[in-house]
Amino acid sequence: MTAYLKDSFGRQIRDLRVSLTDRCNFRCFYCLPHGEPPAAPKSSMLSYEEIECVSEIFVSLGIEKIRLTGGEPMLRRDIEIITRKLAALKPRLKDLALTTNGYFLPERAESLKEAGLDRVTISLDSLKRDVFKRMTGVDVLERVLEGIAAAKRARLTPIKINAVIVRGHNEDEVADFAAFARETGVAMRFIEFMPLDSGHDWSREMVVAGREILRRINERFPLVPISTERGSDTSTRYSFADGAQGEIGIIAPVTEAFCGACSRIRLTADGQIRTCLFSTVEHPLRDCLRSGATRKEIIEFIESAVMKKEPRHYINEPQFVTPSRTMSFIGG
Ligand code: GTP
Ligand code: 5AD
Ligand code: SF4
Repeated sequence: MTAYLKDSFGRQIRDLRVSLTDRCNFRCFYCLPHGEPPAAPKSSMLSYEEIECVSEIFVSLGIEKIRLTGGEPMLRRDIEIITRKLAALKPRLKDLALTTNGYFLPERAESLKEAGLDRVTISLDSLKRDVFKRMTGVDVLERVLEGIAAAKRARLTPIKINAVIVRGHNEDEVADFAAFARETGVAMRFIEFMPLDSGHDWSREMVVAGREILRRINERFPLVPISTERGSDTSTRYSFADGAQGEIGIIAPVTEAFCGACSRIRLTADGQIRTCLFSTVEHPLRDCLRSGATRKEIIEFIESAVMKKEPRHYINEPQFVTPSRTMSFIGG
């Protein structure tokens, strides 16, 4: 029988997000505009063997979904190796996904599928070359579109596309993204800008509320809610009223927080457990592992960290404290 990890509010933890690296080859202004701090020594990073070992323990504790993130996870060497190791945890592990900027997918989508990856989520903030470059710092829109096509050919499906919508940058493209979903059959997800940018440029005025995004899409393509149970999903989902392929998801952590049903914990590239995107404290699982702890001690460490999971975020309150790490370290 599977034991379930539970936090002190009774939320079951079923979703583990593993960051493979803090490095990134993009410079998205909402994440890592000024580049990375100097690299930490390689020995501070969890090795693939260590990630495999703790993932197996997490799965034995009821984790059903593992998502590989970064930074850009595909910058870590041979991620097919860790993908294969994690895929071996199926069928107890039900879902193995990757969040990527898509840059390396044209050449690697096929080998990732072959290694056992189920699906990918790809960031795409604009369909216009100049806006894409302004938002991400790199002039590679075409390549990312090729990456999406390669993921589709490799059947890394359902493919989800993430766009962070920021006032003054891309809010006028929302309906064009919906058209893109209809043409390609992907699930297009719109994310509210959160205060997790390393440049500390976030301001409330830059947040485009999920409600406004929905209105903009509905004006051109009427939507109907998808009536499945939302569960711990980050997004509310819609399909097109005219029956077209593709799907719309609204991720509104700022204006409509979804913390009450949160099932997520995170493991940073250097082996710290983070129990919330906005945590101000971390739990050093790496040190526990490397101290020669027994399996039982590692399980106790994980359970005790999970018990300290925060009830929710406080973005909208005066006491809000910017988290100790920004998105490039936490991986979204
Ligand atoms: P699946 O449901 O597994 O497909 O993925 P997901 O919805 O977790 O997707 P993804 O990893 O693409 O996350 C989408 C975005 O939602 C992230 O990039 C974050 O911006 C935001 N997000 C994800 N998890 C959380 C969370 O726990 N809290 C908050 N506030 N935002 C989150
Ligand atoms: N606010 C909202 N989403 C963000 N992401 C990165 N930084 C932010 C932010 N400040 C999202 C990106 C990417 C995922 C890894 O995290 O869109 O899809
Ligand atoms: Fe979960 Fe924290 Fe995200 Fe809320 S902000 S959904 S508690 S990770």
